[in-house]
Amino acid sequence: MSDARDMHELHARAVDAFCREHYSEEQVQVLLMGRTAEGYLPAIERDEMFVMESDGLMVGFGHATQGEVQAVFVDPGWAGRGVGGALLEHALRLAARGHEGPIQLKSTLNAVGFYEAHGFVEVGSTELDKHGMALPFVLMERRWEPSAGEQVSDQDRSRPAALDAYDSMAEAYAAAIEENPRSAYYERPALMDLLPDVSGRRVLDAGCGPGVMMEWFLSQGANVVGVDVSANMLKLAEQRVGDAAVLHVADLEEPMPFLEDSSFDVILSSGTLGYVRDWLALFREFSRVLKPGGCVVFSVGHPCSEYTLNETDDYFSTELREYTWRGLGDTIVVPCYRRPLSHMTEPIVRAGFSIERVVEPVPTEEFAEIEPEEYAQLMRRPRVLCVRVRKPASGG
Ligand SMILES: C[S@@+](CC[C@H](N)C(=O)[O-])C[C@H]1O[C@@H](n2cnc3c(N)ncnc32)[C@H](O)[C@@H]1O
Repeated sequence: MSDARDMHELHARAVDAFCREHYSEEQVQVLLMGRTAEGYLPAIERDEMFVMESDGLMVGFGHATQGEVQAVFVDPGWAGRGVGGALLEHALRLAARGHEGPIQLKSTLNAVGFYEAHGFVEVGSTELDKHGMALPFVLMERRWEPSAGEQVSDQDRSRPAALDAYDSMAEAYAAAIEENPRSAYYERPALMDLLPDVSGRRVLDAGCGPGVMMEWFLSQGANVVGVDVSANMLKLAEQRVGDAAVLHVADLEEPMPFLEDSSFDVILSSGTLGYVRDWLALFREFSRVLKPGGCVVFSVGHPCSEYTLNETDDYFSTELREYTWRGLGDTIVVPCYRRPLSHMTEPIVRAGFSIERVVEPVPTEEFAEIEPEEYAQLMRRPRVLCVRVRKPASGG
C-alpha cells in the first residue's frame, strides 16, 4: 500500500510539473481527478507496475500491459537523469512478453518528444474522455527490438548474472589479477593504448572489481568513480584506493541515477560487459553520463573464441552460458553472455556512439617469458576484443 501511496503522490507531482505547458488548468485538474492510492492496487497486484528507487525513495514508476506501455512517470526532481529512459526500457520489456508486433502507447502532448527520443513514432491522435472532458493524446508505436537474443526470462534477469560468482571469488580474484599475465600483459596494455590522457579528467570505471585500473587512473591524476555489483569486490577496491575514488555498489543492468548527466570524460569497462545483458540500455546510460565528445573504452570476450569455446550451434543469438574457472583455488562457475559481434555493435550505434577503434590484441613479450605456451596460443587465437567508442561532440 505504501508503494501505491508513493505512486499516487509522484503521479500528481509529475502531471503538475510536466503537463501545464500543453494542457489548460482545467484539463490538468481532470487528468488527476478521482485518482486514489487504492486505484493503483489492482495493477500492482497483476505485476503490471514497477518502481525505481534511489536510497529507498521512489524516483519513478511505470505501468505496462501486453503490447502497450500504459505510463511512465518520473519524479520532477529526477527529470533529465535517465530515470524515464530506464523505466521505459523496462516497460517495453514487460509489454513485449508474449506479444508480437509494435508496442503502442498513448502519450500526453508534453511527453511526445521524450518517446520519440526513445524510438517511438507518432501514428495518430486521439481524444480520451476523462470525466466528460475530451483530452488530446498522441498515439505512438515502437517496434521492440531486444538488444540481444533475449532468450532469457525476466526471472533470470532479476539477479545480476555474475553477482554470486564474483562475490564469492572476490578475494582470490583480487589476489591474482594484478600479476595475471592475461590481464597484465595482454588485456590491460591494449586498453591503456586506447585510453586518452586522463590527467585531470573524470573517469568512470564500470565494473571496477578490486580497483587495479582505478589505482592506475589515480596515479595518472584522474578523478575516479568506480561502480561494481559486487560489494565484496568494492571492499577490496576500497582497501586499494582508500577514499581517493568514489565507489558505488550498483548493477550495470540498471540506470545509475546517482551519476549526473554529462559528468564524465571517459568510461572504462574492463572485462565486465559480458555480464550485462542489455547493452542498448547500458550504452544509453553511458551516453547520458558522458560529456559530449567523451569516450567509452571496453574489453569483452572475442566473439570468435566465445563462439567456438561454447560449441553453440546458433552464432546469431545471445545466450547466457556458464564458464568454469579453475585457476583461482576452488572451481567456480561464472555465468556470462555470449553474443555475436552485431549484438555488440548495433546497440552501441543505436545509442548514438561512433565506433572508433576495434583492436584484437596480442600478448606482449613479457607474457612469452612467463607463459610461453599460452603466449603461442594467443598469438594465433584471439580471446578478447578491445574497443573505443565516442559520444558525438555535439548534438548527441
Ligand atoms: C572480470 S571482472 C573485471 C574487474 C575489473 N574491471 C578488472 O579488470 O580487474 C568483472 C567485474 O564485473 C562485475 N560485474 C559483473 N556483473 C556486473 C553488473 N551487472 N553490474 C556491475 N558490475 C558487474 C563483477 O563483480 C566483477 O568485479
